[in-house]
Amino acid sequence: MLTGAGISAESGVPTFRDAQTGLWAQFRPEDLATPEAFLGNPQRVWQWYEWRRELVRKAEPNAGHRALVALAQRVPRLTLVTQNVDGLHQRAGSTGVVEYHGNILRDRCVAEGIVVDRSPLSITGLPECGRCGELVRPDVVWFGEPIPRAALLQADAAAGDCDVFLSIGTSAAVYPAAGLAEQARNAGATVIEINTEATEITSRVDLALRGPAGEVLPRLLELLHSH
Ligand code: OAD
Repeated sequence: MLTGAGISAESGVPTFRDAQTGLWAQFRPEDLATPEAFLGNPQRVWQWYEWRRELVRKAEPNAGHRALVALAQRVPRLTLVTQNVDGLHQRAGSTGVVEYHGNILRDRCVAEGIVVDRSPLSITGLPECGRCGELVRPDVVWFGEPIPRAALLQADAAAGDCDVFLSIGTSAAVYPAAGLAEQARNAGATVIEINTEATEITSRVDLALRGPAGEVLPRLLELLHSH
């Protein structure tokens, strides 16, 4: 299954593409979520990420996240691939989560390319690596950057070898994540979409369940229990 920002919407974490309240409402993504933006203005990019980190730290997992924890206990094999960088699936209790776009709460050293702790002292006023003193950046995937290799392989393998593929709370607009449902379908899986609205892939799914993930997923679980 693949989850997107919609599953965390009910936890108060804004989605990306909502015209009024979405994270991109006031900014162009390429002004903030690209390597070029960071090189050009790391202060501004860090300001935006610190604000988002605060939102994420304050947020709590919701009924949708919890339903997926329970679902994993009901089915023999479940791979949860998420585009979300908020870590709410893990906080709800999901294990083995494939973080396709990284995690906003981790820092990565720009020089070493590895997850690091920040230095307690900063010379530049920006967060610096505790090991080498270089700048750190959020450990997330920006536009134009590749998906972490391990996540890419795990997600491809799961999509190509599943009976049912759930696409939950994602606009299915950003590739390669958006291609996973198609991959699953081509491999013979039943594709089910759970979303408050129609998306790019709605016309190609077997079943579209309309409604908030925090309501639809617990209901789905109830139905499974009664069978
Ligand atoms: P989007 O903001 O593109 O889409 C969120 C989807 O969630 C929309 O289709 C909404 O209709 C739906 N939605 C909103 N509230 C919901 C709810 N309560 N229950 C169910 N669905 C709901 O977010 P993503 O698809 O996650 O990438 O965006 C994909 C990627 O685009 C992100 O990971 C990010 C962004 O660019 C990177 O940062 C690399």
